[in-house]
Amino acid sequence: MARVKVRYQCSECGAESPKWVGRCPDCGAWNTLTEMAATVSHPARGGYAGAAGRGVQTLSEVTPERTERTRLGIEELDRVLGGGLVPGSVILLGGDPGIGKSTLLLQALMALADRHRTLYVTGEESPEQVALRAARLRLSGERLRIAAETSVEAILAMAQAERPQVLVVDSIQTLFTEEVGSAPGSVSQVRESAARLVRHAKATGTALFLVGHVTKEGALAGPRVLEHMVDTVLYFEGDAGGRYRIVRAIKNRFGAVNEIGVFVMTDTGLKAVSNPSAIFLSRHEQPVPGSVVMVTREGTRPLLVEVQALVDDSQLGNPRRVTLGLEQNRLAMLLAVLHRHGGIAVSDQDVFVNVVGGVRVTETAADVPVLLSVLSSFRNRALPHELFAFGEVGLAGEVRPVPGGQERIREAAKHGFRRALVPAANLTRGFRVEGMELLPVRRLDEVVGQASELLL
Ligand code: TYD
Ligand code: MG
Repeated sequence: MARVKVRYQCSECGAESPKWVGRCPDCGAWNTLTEMAATVSHPARGGYAGAAGRGVQTLSEVTPERTERTRLGIEELDRVLGGGLVPGSVILLGGDPGIGKSTLLLQALMALADRHRTLYVTGEESPEQVALRAARLRLSGERLRIAAETSVEAILAMAQAERPQVLVVDSIQTLFTEEVGSAPGSVSQVRESAARLVRHAKATGTALFLVGHVTKEGALAGPRVLEHMVDTVLYFEGDAGGRYRIVRAIKNRFGAVNEIGVFVMTDTGLKAVSNPSAIFLSRHEQPVPGSVVMVTREGTRPLLVEVQALVDDSQLGNPRRVTLGLEQNRLAMLLAVLHRHGGIAVSDQDVFVNVVGGVRVTETAADVPVLLSVLSSFRNRALPHELFAFGEVGLAGEVRPVPGGQERIREAAKHGFRRALVPAANLTRGFRVEGMELLPVRRLDEVVGQASELLL
């Protein structure tokens, strides 16, 4: 009999260790290591095994796979998926509790159920609760098949019998498989359960949605290993208190990454917002200090958002740098560049920066707007209403162009903005937009100079 070796695994990041330690050596989380039996029967989990046994081929001999996509009919979801659902693809949908994961997938399945065989497996709610939700969504559940089940073996048996083309499992953390001894929700359970479902999806061409919970820190709970096993990772953003919800593709083997779909939560479920470019702008009656509008480009679509900063005398020896919707280290870096190349020191000030509406801006085009909002708050003077900005700032104080600059300017023009503070390198010679005053900048000191002139 094989000796059962005991190993320890971090429930946050999935890192393994041969002995127990109080702090995970990989992710630094405390007290997260739990015992697991190292007798995993099939080590090569989650990989694509469809072509096994064909040996080595020349790439040109391989006929490219034709991906027939199934449109869900929910336009914003189709676009994040890259134009519809690919058979055999596995999609992980993550997000905070109550943000709308179950609602969105139920809507998607019910929209599909007329034309396709579907199966909704819930491990969190009873079928009665799901039926109640469906009634609230005013959708008919005539064709949708549903089961409340948490055993992977049972789910696989159901999937064999029902042969669904689209399968939803809500959520992966509630599942358990008999192959693994540990409790549901533990890393080895989640990984093993997901691996078995993924294998089923790949072998049968079933499109599989897995719902995943997030941890307190906002990461997809526990196993980041899941992200490697699936084709697409979608993530719900936006604050659960607000009306808007953004679904972002963090990873997508079948489409553009960072593509977003925008929804509004109504009392009859999530509705797609097909023209979201300016919904995250808060309209101040008067220009206010610390507020700047930027055009960000998420995926393939420009989006106007408001960046707000508050700069205030700090009572702390180590003043605070806090961001919401932006990367914190980037703010610290920008403030250093502002000091070195713009001659403005905020080392005795707390700096808070927020993107309005719970949007996350992941691109560097936010650099110039962030610095402008900081300057505006620091001087306590507002920037003109009709101004917007974008641009990346480098450590040498240079302002760099961003992708799709001219498209961003045109989008802002559509929403009535009249002045653009943008990287000079984004403006080709002869580029004009009717009624738009272009203020090209090359270096950070020019940004500071322009700001001094613009501040009201
Ligand atoms: P839910 O889909 O259950 O979230 P998750 O599965 O991500 O935990 O989210 C439901 C939330 O949305 C809940 O707080 C109630 C609200 N809601 C509406 O506002 N309108 C609706 O039509 C539905 C179904 C839910
Ligand atoms: Mg749910």
